[in-house]
Amino acid sequence: MSDAAQTPNAKFKPRIFSGIQPSGNLTLGNYLGALKRFAQKQDEGIETIYCLVDLHAITVWQEPEALKRQTREAAAAFIAAGIDPARSILFNQSQVSAHAELAWLLNCVARIGWMYRMTQFKDKTSGKNAENSSLGLLAYPSLMAADILLYHATMVPVGEDQKQHLELTRDIAAKFNHDYKTDFFPSPEPLIEGAATRVMSLRDGSKKMSKSDPSDASRINLTDSADTIAKKFRKAVTDPAPLPETLDGLAERPEARNLVNIYAALADKTVEDVIAEYGGQGWGVFKPALADLAVDKLAPISTEMARLMNDPAEIDRILGQGAAKADEIAQPILAKTLDIMGMVRSR
Ligand code: AMP
Ligand code: TRP
Repeated sequence: MSDAAQTPNAKFKPRIFSGIQPSGNLTLGNYLGALKRFAQKQDEGIETIYCLVDLHAITVWQEPEALKRQTREAAAAFIAAGIDPARSILFNQSQVSAHAELAWLLNCVARIGWMYRMTQFKDKTSGKNAENSSLGLLAYPSLMAADILLYHATMVPVGEDQKQHLELTRDIAAKFNHDYKTDFFPSPEPLIEGAATRVMSLRDGSKKMSKSDPSDASRINLTDSADTIAKKFRKAVTDPAPLPETLDGLAERPEARNLVNIYAALADKTVEDVIAEYGGQGWGVFKPALADLAVDKLAPISTEMARLMNDPAEIDRILGQGAAKADEIAQPILAKTLDIMGMVRSR
């Protein structure tokens, strides 16, 4: 079904949408895979809409007070990472009710089987837990499709792990267009670019770095102190061999590959550049260099986050203004969707 020909994008203006769950500490993975690239897209002059997806976060249990704090903290992280609320729309999902409304409409277009096939759902429910997980967790990708399609977004910068959800979004858009004989929804493209589309755990090179990993040592949090960052990189699991002299030498070495990728992404260099500089050196040289670079790049962000968090009212004001701007774009698209689907609209 992912046939872009059915839903030509030419009639849609370029617009970027992406989202992050405010479900805990943001990590270096979120920064390199998402935030840093979100800021770059804004600076390229494309229209950018960024959303803290609190409705997605509650598909698993969230302490209400913690969720509020985490939402404000994620907003602070966006701003600290260079997202300018005057040039990008920055808001939290639940303040624009059209997300939940369009999600319902798309729930009636998407098929249950499509949801069961999502690897993220399978990972989160591994086996028997499935029956006892929230209905929202199963429908999660349909809400994500609504997020994107509500703005007729054409491009979605995400990390590698979201590729399947994007394909599903395209399938839902295509089925809607097909069933209702229209070309109303675009077929949004995932933007998965750069050296750090999949930052791995510092403890296990086969697992992605995640804010929900029980081991804090597995990740760098954006709020970690310089000492903690240095310690976590020093203790990062690696094989004993020195860095290879060529790119091929990283092939079967996931932990080494991960640290080189992180270095390249932080330094805005290619992996080849990093190998040219450090090939043949031991970890005793590379890890401290990586820690220094990470502290250099992340310290200004965590300082700015802390400053912003001192004024939660200002963060709420920014999110409120962002929501009002988002709502202006979303309302006509929701109204048209309802009309296409046959709802009487008389007020
Ligand atoms: P999440 O934290 O799952 O809400 O993810 C928010 C964004 O960060 C998505 O675009 C993810 O693809 C991206 N992301 C999360 N973890 C990583 C990671 N370890 N490496 C690269 N990107 C990531
Ligand atoms: N599912 C995404 C994640 O966990 C978050 C998300 C929700 C999203 N809605 C989105 C990402 C829309 C891009 C576009 O990372």
